[in-house]
Order: sequence, then C-alpha cells, then structure tokens
Amino acid sequence: MSPSQDAVQPTETEDKAQEQAPPPPKPDKLDMRGFIPGYVRCGGTKELGEVTSHNIRLLKRLNQVIFPVSYNDKFYKDVLEAGELAKLAYYNDIVVGAVCCRVDTSDPTQRRLYIMTLGCLGAYRRLGIGTIMLDHVLKYVQRDGNFDSIFLHVQVNNDVAIEFYKKFGFEVIETKKHYYKRIEPADAHVLQKTLRPKIPSTQQNGVVERSRS
Ligand SMILES: CC(C)(COP(=O)(O)OP(=O)(O)OC[C@H]1O[C@@H](n2cnc3c(N)ncnc32)[C@H](O)[C@@H]1OP(=O)(O)O)[C@@H](O)C(=O)NCCC(=O)NCCS
Repeated sequence: MSPSQDAVQPTETEDKAQEQAPPPPKPDKLDMRGFIPGYVRCGGTKELGEVTSHNIRLLKRLNQVIFPVSYNDKFYKDVLEAGELAKLAYYNDIVVGAVCCRVDTSDPTQRRLYIMTLGCLGAYRRLGIGTIMLDHVLKYVQRDGNFDSIFLHVQVNNDVAIEFYKKFGFEVIETKKHYYKRIEPADAHVLQKTLRPKIPSTQQNGVVERSRS
C-alpha cells in the first residue's frame, strides 16, 4: 500500500459495491452436492476486468473501503493510463477488488514494478481473489522479461498481507520508520520478490573485483 496522498481517515463501510454484492457463500447452506442454491459454488467465477473512465469511481470507492489511506486525483488519472497494470477483480460479475501498479525507475540501475494497491473487500477474502490479481501481476512481469523485482509497502502490523505475499515468494527486505504520515502504526515493511539478482556495480562496468588472498 503506497502512502496517503491527501486527507486520510478510514472510510466508513457504506460502499455501494458492498451493498450491491450478495454475501459470499455460507458453508452451512451447502446442499448435498456441496453447492449453494443461487451460487455457482464457493469457487464462483473470478475474473479481472479493465479500469476505464466508466468504472473508475468504483475503483475509488473500493480503495476507500479497503485501505486506511486515500489517493488523490493524480493517482486515478495515472491508473486510467496504466493499461494491464490496473485491474478490477470480479466475483460472480460483482466488483470486489482491484490492483494498481506502476513501473518504478527511482533506482536507475533497476527496473522494478511497484504494487501501489492490491486489495479485496473483506467479505470476499480467502476466495482466491487476491491470488488472481497477484498472478496477473506476476504474468505481466514474466511476459515483459525485463523487470528486476516487484515490491510494495505494507504496514508492519498487516500480518495477513505479509502472509499472502510470502506465499508468492516475497520477503521483507527493509522496514521504513514513519513511512505513513497519518496512520498508526506509521512504519512499513518493504516486501520484495526478486526476479533477477542485483548485479554489483563493479560487475556492471565489466570489472569483477576479486578478494586479495
Ligand atoms: C491481502 C489480501 C489482498 C489477500 O486477498 P485474498 O483474496 O483474501 O487472498 P487469497 O484468497 O487469494 O489467499 C491466498 C493465500 O494467501 C494467504 N492468506 C490470505 N489471507 C490470509 C489470512 N487471513 N491468514 C493467513 N494467510 C492468509 C493464504 O496462504 C492463502 O491461501 P489459502 O487460502 O489457500 O490458504 C486481502 O486480505 C486484502 O485485501 N487485504 C487488505 C488490503 C491489503 O492489506 N493489501 C496489501 C497491501 S497492498
């Protein structure tokens, strides 16, 4: 989760998307076949769709509900131009999650993909929605073939997200003190999945340092 960019208060969960969405399947309502009347089954249809000017407001509401920080107009303007790097997630045709990434070039020696937000509405967690969003990101960098790593920030107390990302080979590489300005805890872990190891600068210049014996 990237840091807040303007006013920040946790948003109340009066989200239209949540209101419209039927609750996820309840295991106690399973019939003899393990199916739920009216549902496709616990493993309902999960798919990703484009972010467009027609549904960007839905993405804003999702992010307001899911994250304790809010994102400004520039964030959403950039997302509209992000193509495959921004996706909405659907569960049985209902928007329940979203992922937004950008290419990070702050380190000139590295080409990195930064996950700004990846989240799913509370009632739809643990159904594999997060997985299809992250799989999409992993396939994107694999197809591109020219990324060194994928990284993101998470609040240090976000154990669920840390577990989730570790499952996909991410590791905590750094902890930044006071990373968030308006939320507690303010510290963030940097989670990273290395795609190709960093080449020491001496080797990049064609010179390989050898230790003296
Ligand atoms: C993190 C998050 C995206 C996971 O989404 P999700 O749809 O619930 O994840 P999935 O169902 O695909 O879970 C995949 C795996 O992650 C791990 N995982 C997910 N939730 C977990 C939990 N509550 N406890 C432990 N492990 C968990 C499990 O290994 C799980 O596999 P399993 O269900 O087969 O055991 C979701 O919890 C979320 O939206 N959190 C709030 C936003 C956020 O913090 N985003 C991260 C920073 S950008």
